[in-house]
Amino acid sequence: MASSHCERKTMKRVVALLFVAATLASAAPSAPRLIANLHARTTISLNGTWRVIIDPYETGLGARYYENRKPKDKQDLVEYDFDSTGTLDVPGDWNSQRETLLFYEGPVWYERSFSYNRTAAARTFLYFGAANYHARVYLNGKPVGEHEGGFTPFNFEISNDVRDGDNFVVVEVNNARRGDSVPALNTDWWNYGGLTRDVSIVEVPAVFIQDYFVQLAKGSPGDIAGWVKLNGATQPEQLTIEIPEASIRQRVTTDMNGYAEVKFAATLQFWSPENPKLYRVVLSAGGDRVEDQIGFRTIETRGSKILLNGKPIFLRGISMHEEAAFRGGRAFSAEDDAVLLGWARELGCNFVRLAHYPHNEAMIRLADQMGLLVWEEIPVYWDIDWKNSATLQTADEQMRDLVARDHNRAAAIFWSIGNETPVNPARLEFMKQVLSYTREQDSTRLVTAAMNHTDKIGPNARLLNDPLGEFLDVLGLNEYIGWYDGPIAATDGLQWKTAYDKPLVVSEFGAETPFGAHGSADSRWTEEYQTSLYQHQIAMLRKIPSLAGMSPWVLMDFRSPRRPLTGIQDFYNRKGLISDRGQRKQAFYTLQKFYREIAATVSDY
Ligand code: GCU
Repeated sequence: MASSHCERKTMKRVVALLFVAATLASAAPSAPRLIANLHARTTISLNGTWRVIIDPYETGLGARYYENRKPKDKQDLVEYDFDSTGTLDVPGDWNSQRETLLFYEGPVWYERSFSYNRTAAARTFLYFGAANYHARVYLNGKPVGEHEGGFTPFNFEISNDVRDGDNFVVVEVNNARRGDSVPALNTDWWNYGGLTRDVSIVEVPAVFIQDYFVQLAKGSPGDIAGWVKLNGATQPEQLTIEIPEASIRQRVTTDMNGYAEVKFAATLQFWSPENPKLYRVVLSAGGDRVEDQIGFRTIETRGSKILLNGKPIFLRGISMHEEAAFRGGRAFSAEDDAVLLGWARELGCNFVRLAHYPHNEAMIRLADQMGLLVWEEIPVYWDIDWKNSATLQTADEQMRDLVARDHNRAAAIFWSIGNETPVNPARLEFMKQVLSYTREQDSTRLVTAAMNHTDKIGPNARLLNDPLGEFLDVLGLNEYIGWYDGPIAATDGLQWKTAYDKPLVVSEFGAETPFGAHGSADSRWTEEYQTSLYQHQIAMLRKIPSLAGMSPWVLMDFRSPRRPLTGIQDFYNRKGLISDRGQRKQAFYTLQKFYREIAATVSDY
């Protein structure tokens, strides 16, 4: 067995190449782009209990666990058996399902059999909401495809592989951290592994609506502009876009490849936190029909202002992780999401920062319905392999799939390309490439990043001076004055400046305390300290002329492998305003009071 790290990496590459060769050999088409809007599709859920084999040394790849083989006879040597191993629930991470797997990082093989009868539906896909971090997918013992990235959906066509009757799917999921992955080796969140979101079989016609973008035209809010992409078209196809409530029925013809751009006038109520108006939109083409609930709004900047539907808005926000309250583990259901967004609403928020990776689709659809504006982010977090083109490709692909999944969500206003990345030339080059790629995917939303590179420019003055700021639409600032960076009193009279005339969102500040820990306002790890920090931070931040919003760190205490302080953290980051058990800390009410005050005074939404 390969000894050194790079030999193992080469071995991995060889295996991956073999895997690809096998994939090609079995004539499975390369992984098609994401099928949009699964909610509107005919699907068969594969959620439930799956059998699993924990495989710390990845023996299963060589031993071909994906064949799910049984010994032919008493001579035949087969050293694995999915029928006699345990199970895990899907969707769900494995770390919070079994005490023994809490710290487990590595490969796990999932197996599930299912009966399928081919219907008239011409094409069949396997769809995964997400799998953290790297997934290899096999159907009936044959490789179907693989995916890298723990927080974005992916699908593979199985039309040629799925059988009438019994089938079995095997997925190897490996959440091992790597230096060249995104995120890389170090995160302040739990590396929950597994099939963390829904797994479904999707049936679509031979020619189907692969993806569509239907939003207000940039700079002309009286028009809808967008496009529709069919999959399987071999000739121009008739396409209809209807918005019945607005008496809109547009017919266009696609090109030979099933692509059409659309632009037409529309008189619509604009979506806003005050009035999160969603319209039923129906697209039909090539025998396919997709319905969606879409809100229409404009988002732009003017100087240091963020304008929603042409009016300046102040973003009353909170940052949050995709971790389930009470039961812990990765959140994945609409119920999990409703608890978290309900708390944000109770705080008085009109904005949430979904940190530091794409959260599940139900979260963003719920924000659409609730009227919460959203910052979405890909996990280019802290230090990653800036010079590695494969790492760049992974980052781009995560952004591509996030945008493809959520580009019809009015709630999504920011694409964030990263968090607290170090200032150096290779990083800047990398980030500029991700930024321009993001704009190619969607030019109608604002691109931002959370930065923490600041200079002291006087005894009482700080400058946000990260060269990346020049290229962003909105500046995100993470500052921890009063926690990592000096005493709380250092906030008093501290002036903030930014090197660019752009809107500033203070994307993080905060302090830690377990719920129920009390003491003087200057003693750390107490609710009084956290409250005092919020009071001083709010006083400091509201003086910044270009401040257009904030999303303090963090809504709820969350698990982190970097927080071992016994009796206080116990592997939780305790900067939440709410404990993981739903207990509101004093500072929750401090921020709530501030948000209520500005919501009442500031004449925007
Ligand atoms: C960082 C980082 C967060 C982290 C937080 C903290 O700024 O962005 O992911 O959890 O600070 O230290 O609590």
